[in-house]
Amino acid sequence: MHHSIPLLKRLYSTSSKNWMSRQAKDPYCKLAKANQYRARSAFKLIQINDKYRIIQRNDVVVDCGAAPGGWTQVAAEKVTKKGLVIGIDLLPVDPIPNAHLIRGNFMRLKTQNAIRALLDGRSVDLVCSDMAPSFSGNHTADHARSMELCESALTFAEKVLSPGGSFVAKFLMGGTEHEFRKRLQTMFAKVKTEKPDASRKQSTEGFFVALGYKPLPKKIAAESPAAVEDTATVESAATKEKSKETIMDMQSKSDM
Ligand SMILES: C[S@@+](CC[C@H](N)C(=O)[O-])C[C@H]1O[C@@H](n2cnc3c(N)ncnc32)[C@H](O)[C@@H]1O
Repeated sequence: MHHSIPLLKRLYSTSSKNWMSRQAKDPYCKLAKANQYRARSAFKLIQINDKYRIIQRNDVVVDCGAAPGGWTQVAAEKVTKKGLVIGIDLLPVDPIPNAHLIRGNFMRLKTQNAIRALLDGRSVDLVCSDMAPSFSGNHTADHARSMELCESALTFAEKVLSPGGSFVAKFLMGGTEHEFRKRLQTMFAKVKTEKPDASRKQSTEGFFVALGYKPLPKKIAAESPAAVEDTATVESAATKEKSKETIMDMQSKSDM
């Protein structure tokens, strides 16, 4: 369909006005601002944690899809200084006190190796993923991509979670999440599907919350697929080492 430029401008400004007025009215945007969280999505993790108590003092948390940093902020507050929080994203994340940040594609082996180097042998209490694909507009494709991200987070979780550990992953509803849920049920004592109040009603996202990890005997676990080779850069709030690639302005992601 061909639109004239003035019409496109009008459509764009109407949708951006709608977005701004929705943001202004949204109680979670206000709360995020008041509590200095970088994204309203911080409240999704807070609400899941209020219900299931998955993050404790001194815990080790791996947060996949961390930018702009809302979930990482929440986890870093909860684990306190003796804990360890590692946030990973394709995008750079501004430093967060008490958290290590890795810029890289989580699905790549190099990124996962960088996480394991930071873990330095410590096992993980919670692997959480709020990773989302860039939306293509094709719901079936977006759903499939979202399930791939869940699979990747779970395959990694299998290698690093402590017995009894937890796993939280966002998915876009679309049908095949039921298969994934079945896989979770074989690995965890309890599996729930949540749609926290902070998750917008009109969004098709849901969250798997899996509790009580039951590791497979080592030999079988070693046969599960790994990730693909790539590069990743590691940033540590503690060491203040920053890669050149990551010095970039973070765009506001207040819609998350
Ligand atoms: C909804 S946002 C996360 C918001 C975050 N939980 C917060 O509270 O600020 C989803 C993020 O997943 C990241 N992402 C998607 N695919 C990824 C991948 N393969 N590896 C790392 N990050 C990925 C995106 O770059 C995006 O920043």
